[in-house]
Amino acid sequence: MIPISKPEIGREEIEAVKSVLESGMLAQGEEVEEFEAKFASFIGVKHAIATNSGTSALHTALASAGIRRGDEVITTAFSFFATASAILMQGARPVFVDIDPRTYNINPEKVERAITERTKAIIPVHLYGQPCEMKELMAIAEEHRLMVIEDAAQAHGAMYGGRRVGSIGDMGVFSFYSTKNIITGEGGMITTDDDEIAERARMIRNHGQRRRYVHECLGYNYRMTNIAAAIGLVQLEKLEKLNARRISNARYYSEHLKVKPPYVAPHLRHVFHQYTIRVNSRSRAKFLHHLEAHGIGYGIYYPMPLPRQPAIAARVYCPEAELASGEVVSIPVHPGLKTEDIRRVVEVVNEYEE
Ligand SMILES: Cc1ncc(COP(=O)(O)O)c(C=O)c1O
Repeated sequence: MIPISKPEIGREEIEAVKSVLESGMLAQGEEVEEFEAKFASFIGVKHAIATNSGTSALHTALASAGIRRGDEVITTAFSFFATASAILMQGARPVFVDIDPRTYNINPEKVERAITERTKAIIPVHLYGQPCEMKELMAIAEEHRLMVIEDAAQAHGAMYGGRRVGSIGDMGVFSFYSTKNIITGEGGMITTDDDEIAERARMIRNHGQRRRYVHECLGYNYRMTNIAAAIGLVQLEKLEKLNARRISNARYYSEHLKVKPPYVAPHLRHVFHQYTIRVNSRSRAKFLHHLEAHGIGYGIYYPMPLPRQPAIAARVYCPEAELASGEVVSIPVHPGLKTEDIRRVVEVVNEYEE
């Protein structure tokens, strides 16, 4: 079986965890601080605040931005549930906007039409590792005085206009879940240049405390452990190498697969968290069965647009997100693939006939 994802864990990560375990300082401490400093410098921002998941990073980011009940937050109809649930956690209303079918990312033209006097923020998601059209989005946000929180959970190291994602909006949010471009098991990070937002985020992550046992605001236990940070520090060193392998695997697919390759906009760097193709929705089940029968792992990201999730049930119809959810199939593109694996994937996908 060629899996859809595989953690890249080597001796260095094992040694790093061992040394944290031997130190006896397992909770948030020096390793977390070092991971934050190095991540901030890699992304090109002043502050990085580590959390225990991408979801808690999103929630903390929204809380730090002052998003609350009665506010509206615009986001894409096509993402992982956490992008929307973090908005709900603040009691705010997610307003879903359809995607550009070429990139699967939020369509800036439609964002403008979704703005009301209650709109406070936009959460663009750099889906599959491809940056959103940030120039257009930032211009809209500036005109309407909206916060921009980039959901870069799938896009560590992706670039737009010479800048890394996570440094373009007011805040960026990352996930280090075990399938991501770099991993800590579970983990997340908020990036920002804003001193006040960073300070609030640090408090909210730690039960609203600036000083011990003085709780100035509602906060949570969203702290990262030193164990996770020790893995993250090693992974961050490897990120560029791991991304380069993803990009080169994707290039091989795009040159050799008979299906239409994913569209990559010319002015950006896509880091291929996923390599996603489209098949006819009527025959997708048959195609998936073909992959399975030949030992090729796959993923459907995502089979249901966010507005239709039972926990959300928003009364909005996003036709491009609906179409995509019925047609997308992601095939293995992770850095652990060997040359023979990539050739095998190409062979199996190419021999499929509807
Ligand atoms: C786009 C997106 N946003 C948010 C998240 C949430 O991250 P986590 O799983 O680390 O909580 C994920 C991860 O699955 C994601 O893909």
